[in-house]
Amino acid sequence: MTEIALVTGTSSGMGMYAAIELARRGLEVVATMRDTGRADRLRDAAAEAGVTVGIRALDVVDHAAAARLVDEITADHGRIDVLVNNAGRGSVATAEQLTIAQIQAQLDVNYLAPVNLAKLVLPGMRARGHGRILTVTSVGGTVGQPFADAYCGAKFAVEGFMQSLAATAEHFGVDVRVIEPAAVSSDFVSNVERPGDAGAYQALLDAYLARTAGAFANAQTPQDAGAAIADAATSDESRFRWQTSEAASRFVGVSLADLDGTRVSGFTRPWIG
Ligand SMILES: NC(=O)c1ccc[n+]([C@@H]2O[C@H](COP(=O)([O-])OP(=O)(O)OC[C@H]3O[C@@H](n4cnc5c(N)ncnc54)[C@H](OP(=O)(O)O)[C@@H]3O)[C@@H](O)[C@H]2O)c1
Repeated sequence: MTEIALVTGTSSGMGMYAAIELARRGLEVVATMRDTGRADRLRDAAAEAGVTVGIRALDVVDHAAAARLVDEITADHGRIDVLVNNAGRGSVATAEQLTIAQIQAQLDVNYLAPVNLAKLVLPGMRARGHGRILTVTSVGGTVGQPFADAYCGAKFAVEGFMQSLAATAEHFGVDVRVIEPAAVSSDFVSNVERPGDAGAYQALLDAYLARTAGAFANAQTPQDAGAAIADAATSDESRFRWQTSEAASRFVGVSLADLDGTRVSGFTRPWIG
């Protein structure tokens, strides 16, 4: 039976390529984006790959619209087998530069939106005893990084939610997973929010941005990251945490056995010093 996949944030980047890659693997893909007027890039890339994807509008922070969309897909296709929570946005700022509203906006898109969609697809998946919920988090979901306070906070939060949910969902045949990219040469950097004047932090920010430019010079391509997302979304391997590249695995590995936090602080301190 053809599996039905819902992918968010497919106007660009790794979400766009993940949608195409899932279609290449035979899934029926509903690719969503905020503004379907920007769907040409996806349509052209899908045509080049010889696949078609359904395109629907969804701003993931609109929880009522997400509920309507899940109902519509379920009515049209009978079910959703795979959810890929990909939509997300970065923020380059430290705490003093950020308003609470800006921090809330990071939580809205990177935490509450995937949580809401997971809650929406879960009842159907549980009832059928089958489903996968994959959330694109980040290496910043395990390693807190300078000038990423709000972004990493939201990505840590969504990893915690999904890891907790995974334990109960697996009893009903639902795999809950996260996938952690490191630097990927998508539109992410140009889309990042850069709120406020850095003030006393300007020199540290300059050092951070110089280091980041170096990291992105060797970034993974969004095509490659999209294929890794499709792997994680379709694999039968029972595994919660995935990375899109070897570099991402090494990055995440800095944190996961860092019992006193010194490995992470030793890793990131030179970025701004
Ligand atoms: N690139 C990296 O280095 C990197 C590293 C680690 C993790 N990630 C994560 O990877 C995911 C994909 O990012 P990307 O690198 O492919 O960047 P991207 O090219 O900027 O793609 C992000 C996508 O998310 C969409 N989006 C943002 N806010 C949305 C909303 N409220 N509703 C629906 N869609 C929304 C964007 O749509 P619009 O065009 O409408 O803005 C865009 O299609 C994100 O979750 C990001 O946090 C990226």
